[in-house]
Amino acid sequence: MTDVSPRPTRIAHVGIAVQALDRILPFYRDLLGMSEVSLDNADGARIAGVQAGESLVELLEAESPDSPVGKYVAKRGPGIHHICFAVDDLDATLARCKAAGVRLIDETPRIGAEAKRIAFIHPSATGGVLIELSEF
Ligand code: CO
Repeated sequence: MTDVSPRPTRIAHVGIAVQALDRILPFYRDLLGMSEVSLDNADGARIAGVQAGESLVELLEAESPDSPVGKYVAKRGPGIHHICFAVDDLDATLARCKAAGVRLIDETPRIGAEAKRIAFIHPSATGGVLIELSEF
């Protein structure tokens, strides 16, 4: 039996919904000095990553108005969209949430923008914050 203590839950990235990547990216990259990380599109959003030390910020631009980010921006305007916490055991964390009656958007993990296993928790269960969980 292995005796490895799990690492504490940590912030993986913050997702920010933007109207136009081209307009906002220079602010983060050129004025704040954050380096750009290439990320895959996910959930109908074009994503530009910018690195702040060990922390990642994902800038999310909707590919279409009926995508999740498109609907979000239409309803609330651009701004902080979600926070992603990294956990060591995503399946166990989801199972705990499910058992506690927490409303999940993703009942089972899927592959997210960084090619990691992820799952979203519904904001109605978290005090209004859209939370993404990622593994590692
Ligand atoms: Co995310």
